[in-house]
Amino acid sequence: MSLKPLLDEYRKRVDGALLRWLPEENSLPEQLHNAMRYAVLGGGKRVRPVLTYATGSALGVDLSRLDGPACAVEMIHAYSLVHDDLPAMDDDELRRGRPTCHIAFDEATAILAGDALLTMAFEVLTSDENMAVSAEQRVKMIRELSLASGNRGMVGGQAIDIAAEGTRLTLEQLQQMHAHKTGALIRAAVRLGALTCNTLTKTQKDALDSYADAIGLAFQIRDDILDVEADTETLGKPQGSDAARDKPTYTSLLGLDGAREKAQGLHQVALESLSQFDEAADPLRWISAYIVDRSN
Ligand code: IPE
Ligand code: IPE
Ligand code: MG
Ligand code: MG
Ligand code: MG
Repeated sequence: MSLKPLLDEYRKRVDGALLRWLPEENSLPEQLHNAMRYAVLGGGKRVRPVLTYATGSALGVDLSRLDGPACAVEMIHAYSLVHDDLPAMDDDELRRGRPTCHIAFDEATAILAGDALLTMAFEVLTSDENMAVSAEQRVKMIRELSLASGNRGMVGGQAIDIAAEGTRLTLEQLQQMHAHKTGALIRAAVRLGALTCNTLTKTQKDALDSYADAIGLAFQIRDDILDVEADTETLGKPQGSDAARDKPTYTSLLGLDGAREKAQGLHQVALESLSQFDEAADPLRWISAYIVDRSN
């Protein structure tokens, strides 16, 4: 297999699982449920669930056991985007090629849809039978996702991002911000895939963490680059949003070439981190290459 069919397969798989968990269209409360569906369905690269599947597969875990964790991370991610786009945050009106949730619905509904998706992620992790993990393992996974999502993870990173508007950060501070706002959830996506494996060793876990940290940072650096050099139609979100809000980014600090070089370096680190894995980990290698090269 190569990357494209693999991405198609994993995306299809997580979309099916998400549909099973999400409330039915037009069920009550209608606005809320339709907004949750709107935020999750109809677009998105599904990078985080793809990573969960690819990590589990590298460790020999059946895909059906990974649907729950894959869904849970994508729900957190979709919620984070809905809130990220709100007027009080990045104030963006386009996402995944469509009006953002608060434009398509209204602000109150978008806030609530985000809240409900965040909560549903944990419902999935606590109750998905197909995961076939022990209760103890399940608690570990819940802990992992909650830490990655909250003040010590994504939400903390978003707080740093908002506070940093109009200021200059050092490279170290910028890396911290990115590691939290984007890296934490990407690391959790990999870790949840790994924690589904009942025979995970410490060496495997450390290697996968190091892989995830490298691609997590690379992912946000590429996002910063695309904000400068891509166009709104390809991106499906407004090009130039960072500059408009005077956000510190890798491109504002290192320039386009510097940022590209940094991302390529991280791709190499990601590959080196996987050196102990055989070809079962090739999808993880391809995903790393895709992350630094993607056009949206
Ligand atoms: C956008 O994430 C927000 C960041 C963390 C950079 P994605 O680029 O994964 O967005 P979708 O899910 O594909 O729309
Ligand atoms: C958002 O980062 C990260 C999240 C936690 C949602 P950005 O603000 O750069 O994401 P985009 O560019 O709007 O997708
Ligand atoms: Mg933002
Ligand atoms: Mg944004
Ligand atoms: Mg961005």
